[in-house]
Amino acid sequence: MKPAVLVTKRIFPEAVELLRQHAEVDYVDSDDGLTPEELDRRARGKRGIVSQLTDQFTAERIGRLAGVRVIANVAVGFDNVDLAAATRQGILVANTPDVLTDTTADLAFALLLAAARRVVEGHRFVHSGQWRRWTIDLLAGHDVHHKTLGIFGMGRIGQAVARRGAGFSMRLLYHDARRAPEALERELGLEFVDQARLLGEADFITLHVPLNDSTRKLIGPAELRQMKPHAILVNTSRGPVVDEAALAQALAAHAIAAAGLDVFENEPHVHPLLLELDNVVLTPHIGSASVETRRKMSLLAAENALAALAGRRPPNLLNPEAMSK
Ligand code: GLV
Repeated sequence: MKPAVLVTKRIFPEAVELLRQHAEVDYVDSDDGLTPEELDRRARGKRGIVSQLTDQFTAERIGRLAGVRVIANVAVGFDNVDLAAATRQGILVANTPDVLTDTTADLAFALLLAAARRVVEGHRFVHSGQWRRWTIDLLAGHDVHHKTLGIFGMGRIGQAVARRGAGFSMRLLYHDARRAPEALERELGLEFVDQARLLGEADFITLHVPLNDSTRKLIGPAELRQMKPHAILVNTSRGPVVDEAALAQALAAHAIAAAGLDVFENEPHVHPLLLELDNVVLTPHIGSASVETRRKMSLLAAENALAALAGRRPPNLLNPEAMSK
C-alpha cells in the first residue's frame, strides 16, 4: 500500500504528480491553506506532510502527529516547525535550500536598488500624471555603487548578495554568529565586523539570518539609532527579525533614509504607518518567487518527502538525529 501524504496548500502540479507516483496524496488544492483544526484533522493517518511556511507546527501540534515520519517544508526557512519537538518524536524535517539562493538574493538587490533610487516613487509619480518637467533633483536618491554594504548573516543567501554587491563595486562588511572561512572572505572581499561597526558604517544593511531566539528583533530601536541617517535597510529574511513598529517610526522621522521590505512581523498584516510612507518599498514575501524557483522548491519538497517515506535520508534533512528514531 502506498503511504499517505498530505499536501497542505497548492504547489506546482509537477510536484503533486511526482508524489502521486509513490504515495496516496491528500492534496489541498487551494491557496487558503488549512486552519489549525483542519490541519490537525487532515494530518491524521498520514505518513508525510508537504507543508508551507504558513503552516504552524508547534510542539503541541507535533505531539498530535502520531505516525507522521516526515514534514517537508516548501521553504528554506523552517521557523514554522518546532524542530526539537519533531526530533524528539522521530519526525524528519526537511527544507528547500540552494534552489532559491540566487532568486532571493536578486530580490534583496531589487529592493535595495528600488529603495535607493526611488523606483517605486518614480513609478507612482509618472503613473499619476504628476510628471510635468525635468528638474535637477527630481526624485534624487542615493548611489549604490562604491557604497558600503553591511550583510547580517553570511550563509548561502548572504554570500549571493555579497557577489551582487561586489558587482556594484561596494565595500562588503558582514556580521554572523560564526565567522566565514578565510578563503571565502578572500574570494568575496568580505570584512568581518562586530554588530556595532556594521550598523554604524554601512550605507546599506541587508538581513540574511534565520529566525530564531537569537535573531528575533535583531534590529530594534537601539540598532536603528546606530545606523547612519542615510542608511537603507533591506529585509528578505523573516519579519520578526526587525521590530516593525520601531522601523516605521524611524522611517517616518527620517532617522534612516529608506527601507525595502519583503517580510513582515505578522504577515499579511503590515504596520499601518509603513503603508503611508514614501521612503519604503514593500513586497509581499516574494523573495523566492520566480516561476522557475518555486517549481524547483515544490519538486524538492516532494523529493524530500518521498525519500523519507522510502526509508532513505531526505536530501535536505534538517534533523539527522531523528533518522535513528
Ligand atoms: C521563504 O521565505 C523561504 O523560507 O523559503
